[in-house]
Amino acid sequence: MQRTLLVPGAILLASFGIAYAVPNSAQEKPESSEPKMTPEDAARKNPVPPTPEGLAEVRKLFGYNCAMCHGKNGDGKGDLAADMKLELRDWREASSIEKMTDGELFWIVSNGKGKMPGEGGRTTEKVRWNFVNLVRAFAKKGAGDKPKADSPAS
Ligand code: HEC
Repeated sequence: MQRTLLVPGAILLASFGIAYAVPNSAQEKPESSEPKMTPEDAARKNPVPPTPEGLAEVRKLFGYNCAMCHGKNGDGKGDLAADMKLELRDWREASSIEKMTDGELFWIVSNGKGKMPGEGGRTTEKVRWNFVNLVRAFAKKGAGDKPKADSPAS
């Protein structure tokens, strides 16, 4: 009886370990060796259309790897952001990143910027484009929250 409970418990612990390993590496990133974004990078078009499935997949990853800074709903008020005294944009305001291209957002997600760690080494391009789709989706009303009253009930 007891033993069957141990295995899921161990998996849970292991995944928490991974999630909490991220912030430390973020703080130790040397700022001087940063790669530079080229105009070609910024002009890249998003080849991955936003779909409910794609968004659901990265929303989970966002919870583990991004929300501690950017906030669960993209408001920029994560605990780690507060600890590090980061001033983050509130993505729920469409104007916060409307001047940035998808290519720029993708580049930042991939390579990091300033205090932000890049995801390039551990995620596929598709996942990173979906992060861009998710970040954009926060600006659409209620996208980061549970479905609103006007969406069809289950
Ligand atoms: C350690 C805190 C931290 C974590 C974790 C983090 N970010 Fe960021 N992020 C930042 C900071 C700080 C900036 C602003 C960088 C700048 O402009 O100098 C930023 C900027 C961005 C931008 C560019 C748009 C903007 O608001 O400036 C995107 C897109 C982004 N982050 C996505 C993500 C995604 C997706 C993840 C998770 C995979 C993530 N971030 C994880 C701190 C973080």
